[in-house]
Amino acid sequence: MNVTTRPSVSDAAVLDVARIRAEFPILGQTVRGKPLVYLDSAASAQKPRAVIDAMVGAMETQYANVHRGLHWMSERTTDAYEAARAAVARLINAADAAEVVFVRNSTEAINLVAHSFGRGVLRPGQAVVVSEMEHHSNFVPWQMLRDAHGIELRVAPITEAGELDMAALERLLGDGRVGLVAITHMSNVLGTYTPAERIARLAHAHGARVLFDGSQAVVHRRIDVHAIGADFYAFTGHKLYGPTGIGVLWGRRELLEAMPPFLGGGDMISSVSIERSTWAGVPHKFEAGTPAILEAIGLGAAVGFVEDIGYEAIAAHEASLTDHALARLAAIEGVQVIGRAQDRGGVISFTLDRAHPHDIATLLDRQGIAVRAGHHCAEPLMHRLGVSSTARASFGIYTTHAEIDALATALARVREFFA
Ligand code: ALA
Repeated sequence: MNVTTRPSVSDAAVLDVARIRAEFPILGQTVRGKPLVYLDSAASAQKPRAVIDAMVGAMETQYANVHRGLHWMSERTTDAYEAARAAVARLINAADAAEVVFVRNSTEAINLVAHSFGRGVLRPGQAVVVSEMEHHSNFVPWQMLRDAHGIELRVAPITEAGELDMAALERLLGDGRVGLVAITHMSNVLGTYTPAERIARLAHAHGARVLFDGSQAVVHRRIDVHAIGADFYAFTGHKLYGPTGIGVLWGRRELLEAMPPFLGGGDMISSVSIERSTWAGVPHKFEAGTPAILEAIGLGAAVGFVEDIGYEAIAAHEASLTDHALARLAAIEGVQVIGRAQDRGGVISFTLDRAHPHDIATLLDRQGIAVRAGHHCAEPLMHRLGVSSTARASFGIYTTHAEIDALATALARVREFFA
């Protein structure tokens, strides 16, 4: 196998991938004696030097708790934490940084909405619509809400191509009882982008609010929450080249203000007496306890890193990678790519006849190639597709065409092994 970190002509055409790769210390590692080919960015992306340095730098030079101290260190740390919030707001074109709530991850963001909007604003008898291709994080919180609060849970189907069935979604909205549509903006299994603007328009026309799980989409495309028409937008930091333990819930200010808190404790209050407490304003009302300070600073650095590269170049590079991967995989006998959406990104699930996805992943790993195998936290989608699991290759800004060639070569070998 001939894997190098030197980009091919196609890499260099849209993005200086060699320069980008040099920013990611881990990509120089070898695994089992082979150059690391990291094709699992949809699970978690690698971290650039800018993020590592920002977090280490904060710990080494200006660290204290935020929003509490009157001393220099606390003021500097608070400034850095709030600057990260402003960076996120700029990234997604939020009207106001106060609309950006820091949470642990997308799962917590969606649980926050399910708890606070679900129990505080939705009324029993109303419905929430999700789709068949949701991650468990956009399924289970709504099941819990259904069971605790008398909310009906409706599931919009996908088409054979793996796209959201918009006609079916419209039918599900038809009786006007839907209070919230909660849909992925990009499937972590199929790579399908959903038509967010059309979904939002449809939801609003039927009196429903709309939440997008942008965990995958925000990594690959510029997100403008206002242009989309979203009411809530959730994503996590660690897939966006930032650290784990930090995620974002963006919500329209008037909605966040109308919602009760999710977690109670320090920093989220205005005042506390024995009898009662009153809440801080947004976003602090939703950030109980000492937040993930260093992780927020790391996410702010990741946002700067992505902005410096630019979403146009990122999207063009990843579209080129995806086209290349689909062509290479199609040429391997026995490989079946799952999902044929028109609008899709660099997350490709596949099966290989005679080989279980776990065996595929294990054999690829022996060649230094990291892919994910399993149900990808999307068991309802697996049932819909009639499979128990898939193998999945997913790309990031540092992925090269040569790495995709390495995957294709290695997969052909796996197939020979099982033949
Ligand atoms: N949600 C992550 C994935 O799709 C973990 O792999």
